[in-house]
Amino acid sequence: MNEHDSETISGMLQQRGYIEAPEKNESDITIINTCSIRENADKRFFGTLGQLKKIKEKNPEYVTCVCGCMMQQDHIVQELKQKYPWVDIIFGTHNICEFPDMLEEVYERRSKATKRTKNRDLRIHRVYEDTDKIAEGLPAKRLYKHKSFVNIMFGCNNFCTYCIVPYTRGREKSRKPEDIISEIKALVSDGVKEVTLLGQNVNSYSGVGADGKQWDFTDLIYALNDIDGLERIRFMTSHPKDLSDKLIKAFRECDKLCNYIHLPVQAGSSRVLKRMNRRYTREKYLDLVRKLRQAVPGIAISTDIIVGFPGETEEDFEETLTLAKEVQYDSAFTFLYSIRKGTPAAEYEDQIPELVKHERFNRLLDIMNNGSAMKNAAYVGRVEKVLVDGLSKKDDKIYSGRTEGFKLVDFTADENAGEELIGQIVEVEITDSNTFSLRGRLK
Ligand code: 5AD
Ligand code: SF4
Repeated sequence: MNEHDSETISGMLQQRGYIEAPEKNESDITIINTCSIRENADKRFFGTLGQLKKIKEKNPEYVTCVCGCMMQQDHIVQELKQKYPWVDIIFGTHNICEFPDMLEEVYERRSKATKRTKNRDLRIHRVYEDTDKIAEGLPAKRLYKHKSFVNIMFGCNNFCTYCIVPYTRGREKSRKPEDIISEIKALVSDGVKEVTLLGQNVNSYSGVGADGKQWDFTDLIYALNDIDGLERIRFMTSHPKDLSDKLIKAFRECDKLCNYIHLPVQAGSSRVLKRMNRRYTREKYLDLVRKLRQAVPGIAISTDIIVGFPGETEEDFEETLTLAKEVQYDSAFTFLYSIRKGTPAAEYEDQIPELVKHERFNRLLDIMNNGSAMKNAAYVGRVEKVLVDGLSKKDDKIYSGRTEGFKLVDFTADENAGEELIGQIVEVEITDSNTFSLRGRLK
């Protein structure tokens, strides 16, 4: 979501004639888009900001802008105002579309400034306000010509007890189906073959169509599956409590819907899940996985797991390990529980000591990595369809792309294959594998 917000910010600036600086320290403007999901992101933000102060001291024309989820937290904005008064623009997740105007306003205020103008009058801080409105038609500067993120909804109503997102991104709002469809048709005419539909919980998408009818997520998938020229549809993220049988059926019936799902489990113990306010049990989750695998044999499944949630006992943690072994995930993002100020779990008194968290984390990581390596090894000898993203960063004779199941594949091709392979879906014979990727050669 943040990555796509950055693409939108770049797109808006490009539209107004700004160009990207070749090097970080050659720019006249710096925008830091922040994430507040875990504490280490906060720490990195303040570290980076400290470095920018030196640039600003050398170049008074310089404009420093900060945005993203962290700006939706009052204590962060107060800290910025008190300790970082040289930051020119602070804007939140709800004010992205206003950013280019804010930037121009800063230049205008500076040009009109006299000796008596106070520094604080040259700065703009616009955060918090959430509205029901969704800004449509914003441009985006895509990283890839052949694939794109597309927001289908914003915000979250779930209030998992560890999570800051409902406080920073506000309540759920779904875009109109027609707006999504026309954006994707325009992207396809611009060369896009794969879209990733974005939302904190795409399964609760609920858009009102031009005919006044309510569209759910699956209705949207079926409509997108009919778009000529679009070849792959992905989505992120699904909440297990809302994953419907209708969606499982859509996996079978929609040929463009990739056989891959990111289905965050967070914990394997029903007791912990209850305290996390996830509203499903271990059994319900395992049942969903069974149903998915029955309907779509070979579907790739990835997950998110939090280790060391307050009150997690050794027995609870072992339930996470046994669940992971049972599901046999293709890949997993594992996180140490991180206290987020303002969330209910931050107030729980039974916080887990850091040492215990780390020890459990390492045990889990071992199991997840072994599991991914085993899953990947099973691909050796198969032929996979790969959407080619580009040449490998390490070796310009090796191409890199993703399978339908979102596995990273590095592969070789004939000497004369050239850059025209980029953006194509090609068949690759898998010859080798490791924990995080596959290797192969063009068929
Ligand atoms: N601590 C650790 N991990 C968290 N996540 C969300 N909030 C926290 C937190 N406070 C993880 C969840 C979520 C992913 C995006 O980040 O696993 O699915
Ligand atoms: Fe956070 Fe839960 Fe919403 Fe995901 S569903 S964004 S974890 S509150």
